[in-house]
Amino acid sequence: MSIPRDFIDLLLTKVDLVDLIKLQVPLPKKTGSNYFGRCPFHTEKSASFSVSQPKQFYYCFGCGAHGNAIDFMMQHDRLSFPEAIEALARQTGLEVPKTVTQATKSDNLNDLYDMAENAMHYYYNQMRQSQRAIDYLKQRGISGKTAQQFNLGYAQPGWSHILDTLGQTPADKKKLLDTGLIIKKPDANDYYDRFRDRIIFPIRDYRGRYIGFGGRILDKGEPKYLNSPETPLFQKGHELYGLYQALQSNRQLDKVLIVEGYMDVIALFQHDITYAVATLGTATTPHHLQRLFRYSSNLIFCFDGDQAGRTAAWRALQVLFPLMQDSLQIQFLFLPDGEDPDSLVQKEGKASFEERVNKAHSLSTFFFQTLSQQADMASMEGRARFATQALNYIKQLSANLFQSILIEELSKRARIDINELKQQVKGKEAPKNSPPLQATTTIKLPTSIRLAITLLLQHPHLAGLIKTPLPTNTLPGHTFLCQLLETIQKSPNITTGALLEYWRGQKEEALLAKLAQIDPIVPETGIENEFLGAIKQITLSTYDEEINRLLAKAAQEGLSDEEKVALTSWITTKKSLYSS
Ligand code: GTP
Ligand code: MN
Repeated sequence: MSIPRDFIDLLLTKVDLVDLIKLQVPLPKKTGSNYFGRCPFHTEKSASFSVSQPKQFYYCFGCGAHGNAIDFMMQHDRLSFPEAIEALARQTGLEVPKTVTQATKSDNLNDLYDMAENAMHYYYNQMRQSQRAIDYLKQRGISGKTAQQFNLGYAQPGWSHILDTLGQTPADKKKLLDTGLIIKKPDANDYYDRFRDRIIFPIRDYRGRYIGFGGRILDKGEPKYLNSPETPLFQKGHELYGLYQALQSNRQLDKVLIVEGYMDVIALFQHDITYAVATLGTATTPHHLQRLFRYSSNLIFCFDGDQAGRTAAWRALQVLFPLMQDSLQIQFLFLPDGEDPDSLVQKEGKASFEERVNKAHSLSTFFFQTLSQQADMASMEGRARFATQALNYIKQLSANLFQSILIEELSKRARIDINELKQQVKGKEAPKNSPPLQATTTIKLPTSIRLAITLLLQHPHLAGLIKTPLPTNTLPGHTFLCQLLETIQKSPNITTGALLEYWRGQKEEALLAKLAQIDPIVPETGIENEFLGAIKQITLSTYDEEINRLLAKAAQEGLSDEEKVALTSWITTKKSLYSS
């Protein structure tokens, strides 16, 4: 991980988990130092979601969701790890430090971002000076305000406008090249503008940074749209046009409409439908979906009503299926033949268009409709074929509830006994990518080690009671216990949540999360004694290991004088520890 450990520690001391969660999840009940509310990660009526102030750790007794402030941002706001760190840093006014390699790399990147922004301004100003471009936008019904909101621009005809304006030094030429704005001539040390006589659609990432451009021809011609190539800033399969504007215009995205074109997003936005985004001339990718799921659990895919649109929709469904989760709602909207969202919303207005959106097909309806159209549902063979095909998809699902719903629906449509179908899905279930939590949490640890680890996790200050390193032994978990002690001794005020951060992504992670939240096994008053008792047990077993090893050796091959002294010493030490 390139974010320095010290910084993560500092960040977690600056954030208060209770405050952080309360901003997004009501926590009306308080018992001791634990706050309770309804879990944001699953649907429930009771309050199973607990947040511990001293531990800086949350845990849901219903669904098992758990973690520290970073986990909460990752799970609740659907951020990646670095994004979560960045978001928390912003909230606390800290700046994420960069490692040296990262710094030079991002310096270069920052140069490219700057160049892309300069280019946006350049094209934007050109637009104001070109009556031809202004007329084009007018004729397409785009208002000045909308053009401004989307920073629409214009690239004049000619081969070296942006090159001459923004590429005066070799370094600047390189930046223009790296952002895809100019193209190198083959066999010559010379360049030319990529975008010529086109309306420019600046593409922004979810944070609003300019990363690429789309250019539309004003008259007829090929290609109609030209996009920036893949660059360090711009990966088509990841980005969504209009996402930034949608996030800016909506405090919360209740739904997201996924359309095909730049003009669709813009026309919808102008009609106050501000939740549309477009994939950039590519089919929907898992990256797109994962990004969108961070902001909304209700996605509506919009397609043309023709065969091409249905084919594209089916392709999107195939990408979606393995990613499907119970908490998500996916719908498909098919438009009348010959219309796209742009033409339709201009024709019929916001209310009628949204009526269509509200009547979109559910994923399961579209799924079964498409499959049943390919089979003869009147015959038994046809229905069996239909069921087999449907099952192939249903088996991919890890969303249990959704899977059950589809099985039930399939049973009705194919007229096959539901238990029969369930059996088939269970029997050939594909192995899941990540093992379930339980698999890793049942690591068997000796009781004393388990107790010591649990107490340390829940009350890190106990580490202060241990003044000398524990003698080594071979008990399972012993090395881990020593690591834990050492980690706490380096940061004596560390919380449970911050401590767990040290084991993110490691094999101990799931076990630790479990131990961090299990009920206190000892009364608060006796925690220190209980902990010291466990440590004593562990130490005694170290002595036992040594004593037993030496006794076994004595019985087989005898002991050297030194070993005899050692044995006596172990026995005496053990006795004195016993009586202490
Ligand atoms: P308008 O004609 O301006 O309304 O565009 P549209 O969005 O209705 O066009 P269309 O349905 O033809 O294309 C949808 C999207 O596909 C566009 O927004 C582009 O992102 C992409 N696209 C369309 N034509 C081309 C092309 O010729 N080349 C590339 N690379 N992408 C294209
Ligand atoms: Mn169109």
